[in-house]
Amino acid sequence: MRGERRNTLDGAGHMTRDFLLRDVESDDLPIFFEFNADPEACRMAAFTAKDPTDREAFAAHWTRILADATVIIKTIVRDGQVVGSVLSYEEEDRPEVSYWIGREHWGQGIATRALTAFLAEENTVRPMLARVAKDNLGSIRVLEKCGFKVTDGCMGFANVRGEEIEELVYELVADAGDGMQSRSCADCG
Ligand SMILES: CC(C)(COP(=O)(O)OP(=O)(O)OC[C@H]1O[C@@H](n2cnc3c(N)ncnc32)[C@H](O)[C@@H]1OP(=O)(O)O)[C@@H](O)C(=O)NCCC(=O)NCCS
Repeated sequence: MRGERRNTLDGAGHMTRDFLLRDVESDDLPIFFEFNADPEACRMAAFTAKDPTDREAFAAHWTRILADATVIIKTIVRDGQVVGSVLSYEEEDRPEVSYWIGREHWGQGIATRALTAFLAEENTVRPMLARVAKDNLGSIRVLEKCGFKVTDGCMGFANVRGEEIEELVYELVADAGDGMQSRSCADCG
């Protein structure tokens, strides 16, 4: 077990009794599997597992990331219901965020609220990066609403689409006015 359930009510109202991020519990995993296997969600996210319907590969991946001390991963709970996940992981020693909301919960501000809370309370390291398919307009909007700016782009192979597509790199800096430099997309050299 990775810690106790939390129920935080902070001054900024990021997390409330109706909306919170908590540690992942084993019962969440079958729910995440269904969310992650949804064809429309996979098409949107593009950079997914090779076969999102492969339960064994899903279980192996989640066992690995839950055991990885450099991965911060939270279950998003709204009104007592698991609605998605939000996480950060290290890529070349720099943190990147990712998130996934169950399709039936889209369009209700959940990703924006979850990412805002995650960045405020779970991982405050900056700069924070995010990668997104160029045509994933929902995810791009979420990042921009949370203060991320596009810094780079490159081509990447999207498993579920079976083709190379354009990926954008977004970055959130500590203070947008502090002149920090963004780095180049490593995949593009
Ligand atoms: C992308 C995703 C996270 C958005 O989650 P969500 O909870 O529906 O997002 P929100 O409700 O917080 O919406 C935030 C903004 O994005 C817009 N938006 C959401 N989905 C959109 C879409 N498909 N197309 C265009 N805009 C969209 C909303 O209108 C809102 O903008 P507004 O406040 O200006 O009206 C969700 O669709 C998802 O999990 N998709 C599959 C996995 C994925 O793509 N993860 C990200 C990988 S980089």
